[in-house]
Amino acid sequence: MAKTLFIKTYGCQMNVYDSARMADALAPIGYRPSLEGENADMVILNTCHIREKAAEKVFSELGRLRAQKARRQAEGAGMIIAVAGCVAQAEGAEILRRAPYVDIVLGPQTYHRLPEMVARVARGAGAELDTDFPVESKFDHLPAPHGDAGVGAFLTVQEGCDRFCSFCVVPYTRGGETSRPVAAVLAEAEGLVEGGAAEITLLGQNVNAYHGEGPAGENWTLAALIRRLARIEGLKRIRYTTSHPADMNDDLIAAHGEVEKLMPFLHLPVQSGSDSVLAAMNRRHRIGDYLGVIERLRRARGDIALSSDFIVGFPGESEADFAATLALVEAVGFAAAFSFKYSPRPGTPAAALEDQLPEAVKDERLSRLQALIQRQTLDFNRAMVGRSLPVLFEKPGRHPGQIAGRSPYLQAVHAEGPSSLIGEVAEVAIERVAANSLGGRLHGKTPAGPRPDSANERRQASA
Ligand code: SAH
Ligand code: SF4
Ligand code: F3S
Repeated sequence: MAKTLFIKTYGCQMNVYDSARMADALAPIGYRPSLEGENADMVILNTCHIREKAAEKVFSELGRLRAQKARRQAEGAGMIIAVAGCVAQAEGAEILRRAPYVDIVLGPQTYHRLPEMVARVARGAGAELDTDFPVESKFDHLPAPHGDAGVGAFLTVQEGCDRFCSFCVVPYTRGGETSRPVAAVLAEAEGLVEGGAAEITLLGQNVNAYHGEGPAGENWTLAALIRRLARIEGLKRIRYTTSHPADMNDDLIAAHGEVEKLMPFLHLPVQSGSDSVLAAMNRRHRIGDYLGVIERLRRARGDIALSSDFIVGFPGESEADFAATLALVEAVGFAAAFSFKYSPRPGTPAAALEDQLPEAVKDERLSRLQALIQRQTLDFNRAMVGRSLPVLFEKPGRHPGQIAGRSPYLQAVHAEGPSSLIGEVAEVAIERVAANSLGGRLHGKTPAGPRPDSANERRQASA
């Protein structure tokens, strides 16, 4: 009889990808994904350690699961609880100590071992802990993704990070940087497209440092990989995330101008607008470098839209440093951005710095930055009204008769239309801006309107 599996995913897109791969790995031993956790035979929490709040959520969720497991046991059923992801990697033994009802703790590099671990737990062999960084690659041992891929699919091509920004846990939780071989990426991409994917987002913690082995043993850049993927028939759109500014090389920038399937939207985290804060963060790029990359990107692809990540209240950040961050945001003009209060993470160099800032200062700066970013996002979205955008439709909309998808700039767009358009790109005349989406009207096969680059031109003119 099929057993049910519920996976709750926290953190970044790589965790979303990993959760799907864990489900694939457990299918051969009889687990079927379920959308609710209440009565699942197995629950996996796929966790994130990036900030304190993210990590703390895991322990409160485990408290709830403990009660569920006890209730199921009283009914004569069992429940296997597994903790995967970055909290598992960082706090493995501590999780088993604080939550002894957890059966399995496994780090991101050992997912291919999950079926064996589940089998041992089912036999009553006791709790399992595996936070190795094995020599073998999990990718060589995990089954290929199968079934319906969804219109937009994720594909991890690079994992881990060697950059050691002083605030960040990723190099410790995901390990050193590794790239998957070109052939493996191509095979997976072709399978996804056969399974219905029209858009693929290439994932990596530092994806533009990709250097996977090609068929002749040579290393391929991310740009070369993108050019090759663009030849897959049926694949309509390519994106990649997340990139480090210092790894934005000329080849990749040129690809933005040349590869039509590569979407004109780039998430390029800068973290701070102050050179001295960037140095303390060990980011190894300066503001001038970042602005230079953006200028070259805009030269290659006039309508490219940008998003970023910011950390406010890094230890020692002065009001002048923060003002430089606001000035950078003004100068660049982002389509979207994420911003976070600095959160000291155990074991990272920045956590040991002396001049940690009070919470109230961080709160105040965060709200100023977020107000500015929100204004820019709204301006960016409003500039779409009256234009025609090619929208890749992904799913039914919230209201009957509606379908929803994404613009090239990753904006959510909805329109009245037939569900037969799901998986297709169609032109939408944008008529209105809602809180987090654009609304418009399908208008047949009319060619795309003018590329919406006047906002960029305005910014460049005023910069
Ligand atoms: N690889 C990406 C970022 C991964 S983490 C990069 O190099 O930019 C995602 C975002 O979380 C980071 O860009 C950063 O803005 C934020 N972040 C990471 N560590 C943090 C910390 N200790 N406190 C607050 N935000 C943090
Ligand atoms: Fe973390 Fe990104 Fe820096 Fe790597 S490059 S250490 S993932 S912030
Ligand atoms: Fe979080 Fe790990 Fe991703 S810490 S952001 S889940 S790499």
